[in-house]
Amino acid sequence: MRDESLIDELNERHGLDGIRFDSGQGGLPKAVLTSRHGTAEIYLHGGHVTHYQPSDGEPVLWMSDEAVFDGNKAIRGGIPVVFPWFGPHQTDKGQPQHGFARNATWKVDSTASGDELAIVLSLASTLATKRIWPHDFKLKLSTTLAQSLEVSLTIQNTGDKHFEVSPALHTYFVVGDIRKTSITGFEDAHFVDQLADEQRQQRGSITFGEEVDRIYFAGAKPGNPVRPAVIMDDTLGRRIEISSEGSQSSVVWNPWIDKSKRMSDFPDDGYLTMVCVETANAADDSRMIEPGKTHTMTQSIHVVSQDAQKG
Ligand code: BG6
Repeated sequence: MRDESLIDELNERHGLDGIRFDSGQGGLPKAVLTSRHGTAEIYLHGGHVTHYQPSDGEPVLWMSDEAVFDGNKAIRGGIPVVFPWFGPHQTDKGQPQHGFARNATWKVDSTASGDELAIVLSLASTLATKRIWPHDFKLKLSTTLAQSLEVSLTIQNTGDKHFEVSPALHTYFVVGDIRKTSITGFEDAHFVDQLADEQRQQRGSITFGEEVDRIYFAGAKPGNPVRPAVIMDDTLGRRIEISSEGSQSSVVWNPWIDKSKRMSDFPDDGYLTMVCVETANAADDSRMIEPGKTHTMTQSIHVVSQDAQKG
């Protein structure tokens, strides 16, 4: 249901030239960013970016036609924020997969307008989150719309004990046809094949002909930036460049046929037009954060059309 007073309040407090608040699907509040560079939408539920479209191009983020917008379930598609753990909880299978941040309602901290539009959302620990994960934290999720879309997650330890986290920006990208799509940037990288539970090494670019669920690691040297991943999509005539900072691991996921059928909020043929390339701190790349300290991971998404490449 549309909550007019909440939307009005958000517009009064944080609305700016190019940044408006509106009720989205299921009546959930969302921020709508519009500039000469393109458009983006961010739901407060999950701090979830659901839409990004450069002004001279097509939508970049894949959204499931069967996504649930009930304010409880994580939205299927866009950029779910995975925190504090990646995948299943290590010891308690009763805990939510990929943590709780993607199911929580975030607050608007600030907005900024100009040639770049920016919105910062936040999520802090509460008694309810501490029942699931017993730590004090504050998250800031900053989304900036300019020539690229940049999404940055900062995790602050506001408590007096260190904690370990394995967050991810779990981005779903639109592709024309996954069977004709390849991803470069991971050549020779080591990866964990989550389906076989084994370590392997990538040869050449990544192509798709079956379910893929892999955690790629960036080189052996700590501090090495992850090389940009590039989705090569001849069907749609574009390249999507994905750069990461504060991350030494990237997850590449396509559920293929059987898993698509098993997911209730995912169309059976949805796997054909999507791929997830996630900026992560997964597995051995998880991060320890000391009291008072922060850790930031950033994903930048830049689209290059093939016409532009020729010119
Ligand atoms: C990926 C995982 O990040 O997310 C996959 O590597 C998982 O194993 C996928 O299936 C989707 O997870 P969920 O919880 O959103 O269905």
